[in-house]
Amino acid sequence: MFPHTRMRRNRRTDWSRRLVSENQLSVNDLIWPVFIQDGTKQKTDIPSMPGVQRLTIDHLVEAAKAAADLGIPALAIFPATDPSKKTESGEEAFNPENLVCRAVRALKEQDLNLGILCDVALDPYTSHGQDGLVKDGYVINDESVEVLCKQSVAQAEAGCDIIAPSDMMDGRIGAIREALDDAGYQHVQIMAYAAKYASAFYGPFRDAVGSGTNLGSGDKRTYQMDPANSDEAMREVGLDISEGADMVMVKPGMPYLDIVRRVKAEYEVPTFAYQVSGEYAMISAAAQNGWLDRQKSMLESLVCFKRAGADGILTYFAKEVAELLQQK
Ligand code: PBG
Repeated sequence: MFPHTRMRRNRRTDWSRRLVSENQLSVNDLIWPVFIQDGTKQKTDIPSMPGVQRLTIDHLVEAAKAAADLGIPALAIFPATDPSKKTESGEEAFNPENLVCRAVRALKEQDLNLGILCDVALDPYTSHGQDGLVKDGYVINDESVEVLCKQSVAQAEAGCDIIAPSDMMDGRIGAIREALDDAGYQHVQIMAYAAKYASAFYGPFRDAVGSGTNLGSGDKRTYQMDPANSDEAMREVGLDISEGADMVMVKPGMPYLDIVRRVKAEYEVPTFAYQVSGEYAMISAAAQNGWLDRQKSMLESLVCFKRAGADGILTYFAKEVAELLQQK
């Protein structure tokens, strides 16, 4: 008799497939990144991210209520800063009246069961589009970290729940933890963009926040990681945990699932993956052309993060997938 083992037996019926399923995507796994803007236009499209818009604060509040109703645990907010407020050293980053701080206060007034995550890096605020301060063409580390600490404290003061440093400066997690504690924000969590790669998949995000034109032909390879490296990611994550990160993140997502797997296996800490703008753009564009099924590709891409070991996913599909999961 051949074959002895018939793997297809368990796959024969829907109930059996559900029974042997190893991983499940839940609304509790989702963090929804949202773009915000000032001004009179209430919503503006982002051409390279079909279906995603920049929202004014009032619309952000509506979006947050919808997210909380769906059971999405947290929102990440990203500002499209008015170009007139961008400077060489990005001072707007720690202005308590900046767009992010005003948005966080407006969200916190609602008293929703929803965490608010704020990115920490200078790129939305600098005229050169780099995440830190630039001296002689190089992003300088320790001076940048000082500014990032001020930005973190301003965001915590506004009511931010999770500080998420995305800048990849050395030593920033420890410095930010100390600055938050000194200012009385011991309960504010830190999600470190611990293994963040110098990726081409951030292109649409830079369109969305308007940092792409500032960056021009520049790149971030002196601080973001080389996509060829994996051991180095383990060192980065280890450092961020030792400096006080409560949660760590790998970014981008789909091309870096091996890193997610290694991080989760090695450190056993809450591990997140960021399905970045370029990944969203690829799926959306192919679906718009009728080349991929949007819903199926979205669901498959997200459950693969779970299989790799992610505890949660930052994804621009968060609201759409939460609605779908609710219907099921
Ligand atoms: C800012 C930041 C970036 C992203 C998140 N935070 C862009 C960058 O590092 O250039 C990218 C997110 C995405 O592409 O969806 N430092």
